[in-house]
Amino acid sequence: MTIQKKSKDEIEQMRQAGRIVYQVLEHLRSLVKPGVSTGMLGRAADEKISELGGKALFRGVPNPYAGYPFPAAICASIDDEVVHGIPSDSRILNEGQIISIDCGVRYGRYCGDATITVAVGEISDSVRRLMTVTQEVLDIAIQMIRPGVRWSQIAAKMQAHVELNGYSVVKDFVGHGIGVEMHEDPKIPNFVSRELLRNDILLEAGMVLAVEPMVNMGSSAVRYGKDGWVVCTTDHQPSVHCEHTIAVTEDGSDVLTDGR
Ligand code: MF3
Ligand code: CO
Repeated sequence: MTIQKKSKDEIEQMRQAGRIVYQVLEHLRSLVKPGVSTGMLGRAADEKISELGGKALFRGVPNPYAGYPFPAAICASIDDEVVHGIPSDSRILNEGQIISIDCGVRYGRYCGDATITVAVGEISDSVRRLMTVTQEVLDIAIQMIRPGVRWSQIAAKMQAHVELNGYSVVKDFVGHGIGVEMHEDPKIPNFVSRELLRNDILLEAGMVLAVEPMVNMGSSAVRYGKDGWVVCTTDHQPSVHCEHTIAVTEDGSDVLTDGR
């Protein structure tokens, strides 16, 4: 495993990619309402990315399990869909649903990757609470990231916040380093495992991480859906996903996908 650390100049270039991701996601957030299809959101993402001079990163990503590459610029995952939902014109948003929109963009040499989960109209208090806790889990990571901290210390706090609220962390998918490639070393889990403790990550300035907690209201168990891409909760209870691209700085963290 080799962790590619980035210079301050590279981090500024990554912020430009991250800013495009932010602008795309905020545009899509404004479009989410009952009656809109995820296919339409996918097209709106492509338009916005090219208008801003970026390149969609997800289209063409291979998946041996599905047997075909990801066909769109965003993942659009509704309710019990955890990640990797394929946008479709036949998938119409309904009042009370939640949709996670994941977007990755290359701008120049560097990548940015972020996810927001958005309510469609009015949602139940219980699902609103799941959204709030998931955002808090990402905020815990942002607050704790600094040189000298081991990732397991952060993952432990993230997992504890989920579980103390009665929810579960998805274990089958994790965050990742990011830079010239969308997926670089190291893997960034949202939970503590023997594997992580055996091979912990000591944070250093210049590391850039895509941190992406996936929190289930019910069981942590997930399985692939029919199209071979979408991942759903096995109990069909809702799941929320939030993600930011975050640089480790000399004295803390710097979120590169928050629009600054
Ligand atoms: N944020 C996800 C990830 O980092 C999105 C990848 S979707 C894919 O892995 F289509 F590119 F696979
Ligand atoms: Co990611």
